[in-house]
Amino acid sequence: MTRDDPTVGRPRHATFTRYEAMRGGLPNYWYPVIPSRDVGSRPVGIRVLDQPIVLVRDTGAVHALHDRCPHRGIPLSLGRRWEWMPGGGRREFAGTLSCAYHGWTYDLETGRLVAALTDGPDSAIVERGCIGVRTYPVEERQGLIWVWVGDREPVPLEEDVDPDFLRRDAVVCSWVRVMNGNWRDAAENGYDPAHFFYLHRTAFGYLFSRGEWTAYPIVGERRTSPDGKEIDFDFEGGPLEAEYPGLGSWPKRPRYTRLRSLDDVEGSGSTPFRLPGALRVNRWPADWLTHFEWYVPVDETHYRYVQTFVHWTSNPLKRAAFRAWYRLWGRWIWHQNFNSQDFGIVANMSKPPLEEILFRPDSAVRQLRRFIESDPRWDDAPPVVDEEG
Ligand code: FES
Ligand SMILES: [Fe+2]
Repeated sequence: MTRDDPTVGRPRHATFTRYEAMRGGLPNYWYPVIPSRDVGSRPVGIRVLDQPIVLVRDTGAVHALHDRCPHRGIPLSLGRRWEWMPGGGRREFAGTLSCAYHGWTYDLETGRLVAALTDGPDSAIVERGCIGVRTYPVEERQGLIWVWVGDREPVPLEEDVDPDFLRRDAVVCSWVRVMNGNWRDAAENGYDPAHFFYLHRTAFGYLFSRGEWTAYPIVGERRTSPDGKEIDFDFEGGPLEAEYPGLGSWPKRPRYTRLRSLDDVEGSGSTPFRLPGALRVNRWPADWLTHFEWYVPVDETHYRYVQTFVHWTSNPLKRAAFRAWYRLWGRWIWHQNFNSQDFGIVANMSKPPLEEILFRPDSAVRQLRRFIESDPRWDDAPPVVDEEG
């Protein structure tokens, strides 16, 4: 290997300056953060773009508030020991949430401090009228809670989410977990066509078909959707076996596939990506369903991995059957076994400053980084470095 070539072993930040500055996540977007079923009248604390947020449901509607009591800094999501004892909840009045420590009580709609229970009804701190916590816009759609994080006015949710995902006949099965790693590494992994053909060779779901896997992908043309919101490229499998100079042929096909004719092996894929970090894997793992995933920044070293499978049907029986398939099979074989290969890699990506040597299939990764850098809602962005030399 020579170090003379200026593109060899370049630190990522030298070429993708703005991208590096985006490591904490892109503000001013709707993010799916947690399944609806996980938010009830008990407060739940989460972190998004390094902001602590408490979610709580009140008469059906979910509210999101900054998860830090301005009195002494206790998270509003924090409970008390023995809280289940009579009179022990923190929902003292309708439409409010009380801090577990001294009972400062906040209006769920406005975040305003409306009582400081242990200071009596004539509390001077309440009468000041200017104390409260920040609230965040929330939506509840397709079985997920979505939070708008940023200082700009929220756009309609439909502007940020793939319309197919929001269709009325979509059955959405989802799983949300916090993973180790940076959201950008997770996004790059999802959009990377080459890893599929190597990393995933040992996934259970392909136990009986991996003999039909081709050696490497042939990456097609890059595209941007007419509205500019989505980037995409097609890829298809290359030859079943290839001759590597001086080494021999690869991959070795299992015996059982050698007995069959594989003339009709085909299949192509596409993985459209949209901001702030949403990937759609078309017709995967089978023709009748599509996988959507989001990489939601928690902080610089963690992300919420939002995995969903979507099947479109209005038939109630088929809807129920799809949910059953997910619970019994799809979740474990694909979202756990298959995708654990991905999040296992992302957790082990080297930490910045990342020095890397990109190869031909990484044209997809380059495309993804430039697209993320072009984020139209990123205020105060550092300039994009133009030459890749
Ligand atoms: S810290 Fe919240 S009421 Fe005292
Ligand atoms: Fe993958």
